[in-house]
Amino acid sequence: MRLGVCYYPEHWPESLWEDDARRMKTLGIEQVRIAEFAWSRIEPSPGEYDWGWLDRAIDVLGAAGLQVVMCTPTATPPKWLIDRHPDILPVGADGRARTFGSRRHYDFSSPSWFEASRRICTAVAERYGRHPAVAYWQTDNEFGCHHTVVSYSPAAVARFREWLKARYGTVEALNRAWGTVFWSMEYRSFDEVDAPVGTVTEAHPSHRLDYRRFASDEVARYNRMQVEIIRAHSPGRPVAHNFMQLFTEFDHYKVAADLDVASWDSYPLGALEEQWFDPALKARWLRTGHPDFASFNHDVYRGMSKLPFWVMEQQPGPVNWAHWNPAPLPGMVRLWSWEAFAHGAGCVSYFRWRQAPFAQEQMHAGLNTPDNRLDVGGREAGQVAEEIRTVLAAGGDANAAVRGSVALVYDYEAKWLLEIHPQGADFHYPRFAFEYYSALRALGLDVDVVPVDAPLDGYRMIVVPPLPVVPDGFAERLAKSGAQVVLGPRTGSKTVDLQIPATLPPGPLAGILPVRVWRVESLRPNVTEPVTLASRAQGEGEGEGSGASGQARHWRDLLDTDGAQDIEVAARFADGHPAYVRRGPLHYFASLFDDALSVRLFAAIAREAGLAVEPCGDAVRISRRGGFTYVFNYGNAAHELAGIADDAFVIGARKVEPQGVAAYRTP
Ligand code: GAL
Repeated sequence: MRLGVCYYPEHWPESLWEDDARRMKTLGIEQVRIAEFAWSRIEPSPGEYDWGWLDRAIDVLGAAGLQVVMCTPTATPPKWLIDRHPDILPVGADGRARTFGSRRHYDFSSPSWFEASRRICTAVAERYGRHPAVAYWQTDNEFGCHHTVVSYSPAAVARFREWLKARYGTVEALNRAWGTVFWSMEYRSFDEVDAPVGTVTEAHPSHRLDYRRFASDEVARYNRMQVEIIRAHSPGRPVAHNFMQLFTEFDHYKVAADLDVASWDSYPLGALEEQWFDPALKARWLRTGHPDFASFNHDVYRGMSKLPFWVMEQQPGPVNWAHWNPAPLPGMVRLWSWEAFAHGAGCVSYFRWRQAPFAQEQMHAGLNTPDNRLDVGGREAGQVAEEIRTVLAAGGDANAAVRGSVALVYDYEAKWLLEIHPQGADFHYPRFAFEYYSALRALGLDVDVVPVDAPLDGYRMIVVPPLPVVPDGFAERLAKSGAQVVLGPRTGSKTVDLQIPATLPPGPLAGILPVRVWRVESLRPNVTEPVTLASRAQGEGEGEGSGASGQARHWRDLLDTDGAQDIEVAARFADGHPAYVRRGPLHYFASLFDDALSVRLFAAIAREAGLAVEPCGDAVRISRRGGFTYVFNYGNAAHELAGIADDAFVIGARKVEPQGVAAYRTP
């Protein structure tokens, strides 16, 4: 558990560096990330490197006792490189190349870009790979930021054709898999296949899905190239990449497989403003962020990180990039930091040391104001540093692993497929996964977010948000797990080629849950359908008698349960169709329920699984790590913890104030 900061020595006069390093150290910061946007200073002209300033910056940081996270500078190809190789620029769906003048203006598939990247990464890794102050690496910066995963350049299309060849072998196989006989879309050779854009109406969905799979693989290939170079020149130094919050445009599991540290960039207020949350929720959590948003990401990235995950960039104050940019309430920077540690983070690194007075992000706060005074976020970072020392002194284990009792299956292809074939305009996979997560967290449960091929042993409860493609063997693994399993609607609804399964949904799941989804319908946002629970499904002590138990939203799977003897209909829609069926420990939700109903059902199922359910409302959250229980209060009223001895607390006390944090020894 340690603190870090993002620092841009190239933005400041050299005369400030020593003082900056000294003040970082005094504040309790231990690691400093540098150079991810510094290419134009490292190599001002083709082949002419200027290492002097960077050598000195690293030496200054190292001399102050700080560890450097060295970055490859590929997120910002310099002007001269773009002028020499304009094919580096990515091409948008409109067929036009993006221009120079911001960042991430590159195409993962461009051969000249691949070569240029190889060259600069090698130069940086050779120079600093064995430098004693360089302890870690970061590849590039935020792959995919600003919609840059997919490019429609000729280079991308050429590589896509190769990718298709490798996947299908013959063009006949491709035609069959996609179903190109529809609308006479059949191909005679792979070379006839273009990018799925610019069509008169909807391009072929299987074609679109494969293009996204391909684009995702391109990111993994590009990252792997950088990681291999770093490992060759900097043995023993862990390599990270900084992923983005709730970002789903490439398969993060595949990219993380090549890294040591999956880190992510946490901007809870910007995220709240930019995500789907309705205006009332945006107002409610305006200055705190949604209580489950950062946590969800912590748990996503923890699950794919070999070493403890990091928050590589932590919001320190207002950001500049959301539609509106409120300031965090006092205490929130501290709360967010502790929440990351409680979820297993190894490092929380603030973005950035000092607010820049120039360029695109001049309105973005730092730990220090542009005139170099410690800002609110900076003071709170200092407090966190002190508290880390307290927790460690009290026997806290800085490397303790976190293990959830519930597994939530999270899948990137599901997002792409459901976006390509939403069938209802607001069928937004990450939102539904998040809502399941949020319902579990409101019950005080610790959740592991896992890929569909993760080992499932040891979990008492497994929750599967809508998972259209159920891979071979998954149904059997679920059945064997012994856990209570909750399956969301649309699970098993498509084949891997994006076709309807021959036996209809839930496809391969019918082996363990013999039902048949014979029809589906989507519901517009202002329409809900009442759902009534049968009494056994009410959950102990939560019976409410007759009448609707809650509302279904967005979607209905209409289930045929005829002939399946041991299927229990646990809830029905008003028109009599099953809304929730179960077969022993397997539960299938035929819709997405309102939050209260989801919480109630998850509570009942978790209790059946033998889990300790601790309902904590919507503003308080509990996490456990390394013998300590952490409590976070996102609300505006104090929260009293009952039954914990006063001397068990190492941070805070029984009364957790608004925006407060408490940590006590788990009894
Ligand atoms: C991140 C990015 C940083 C900075 C920050 C501002 O997305 O990695 O470079 O732009 O946002 O919030």
